[in-house]
Amino acid sequence: MRYLPLSEITPEMSLARPIFNTDGQVLLSSGMKLTPKYLERLRELGYEHLYVYEPGEKKIDFSAPISDKTLSEAMLSVKDSFAKAHLRQHLNLKQVNSVIDYLVDEILQNPVVIYNLMDLKNHDNYYFLHSINVAVIATMIGRNLGLARDKVKELSTGAFLHDLGMVCIDPEILSKDRTLYKKEKGEINEHPKFGFDLLRNEPGLSLFVAHTAYQHHERLDGSGYPRGLKGDEIHLYGKIVAVADSFEAMTSHRVFRTPYWSHQALAELKKEAGVKYDPEIVQAMVDSAAVYPIGSVVRLNTGEEAVVVDVTATKLTIQFSTGSRVNALYDLSPGSELRIEERLL
Ligand SMILES: [Fe+2]
Repeated sequence: MRYLPLSEITPEMSLARPIFNTDGQVLLSSGMKLTPKYLERLRELGYEHLYVYEPGEKKIDFSAPISDKTLSEAMLSVKDSFAKAHLRQHLNLKQVNSVIDYLVDEILQNPVVIYNLMDLKNHDNYYFLHSINVAVIATMIGRNLGLARDKVKELSTGAFLHDLGMVCIDPEILSKDRTLYKKEKGEINEHPKFGFDLLRNEPGLSLFVAHTAYQHHERLDGSGYPRGLKGDEIHLYGKIVAVADSFEAMTSHRVFRTPYWSHQALAELKKEAGVKYDPEIVQAMVDSAAVYPIGSVVRLNTGEEAVVVDVTATKLTIQFSTGSRVNALYDLSPGSELRIEERLL
């Protein structure tokens, strides 16, 4: 299974991961042949990358952070939460709670699972998938920091709803496909406060969840917004979601910039550890994310090319795509003679 930009996909390839619509329903299921017509339609919908199989490629099980069922329910719940917040109605907390319970349990019950899949975002689902991914990453960071389950759940809920305040921003500004003017940026920078105001008025929701939304753009050195909080003025959840959100945003395709690959985003976070981000949390993030996620096409120190077919906290499995070992699987362990030199796609 490869994660390829649309420009690299040819009609004999088939879809390896389903595409969901924003209601969490499968729009295109895995196994579908990617005819030029489908590819054109997906391009129009704003997809940049897809997971694909080469013709005749053997399907290999991999360790996904959350099940497709939970992903689909999370999609529905986050969309519904944004819609309700937009209308200034109360959220369906029963639904949010149930989704977060599944998400947290799946991650806690599988301690070696890491954030290894890139996502399938497009114009319509950007904020929804972003919210789910940030919740998944924050949950893993919480797990790796040894937080108790009730704390992980609170953190995960805050991460899931961290950008809810975006519903208060003029959609005209959000749809701009260029670098924003200062005034537009200033308006967007209000979204943490809007999120806080929406969430603190939710009966039954912990105030820490509201504060997570309020603080997710604050930075350790006071350079963040909206209040320029510093160091321990920022709650632990705020610091965690700052790291998870930055990683997710850096690795996402936006119209105005090309995304970082995971290894580049992790390097960037490490560079800012102790300045903008809490170093212990950056380390927990590094332990939570695949440096080369599933579907990456890589070049090895032997000159052979391979695809990453599975990755957990303890092992990384590649499948050779060139050379005499084509199609063979190989587990790269820290001591193995094979090393990844470079990510190609
Ligand atoms: Fe945000």
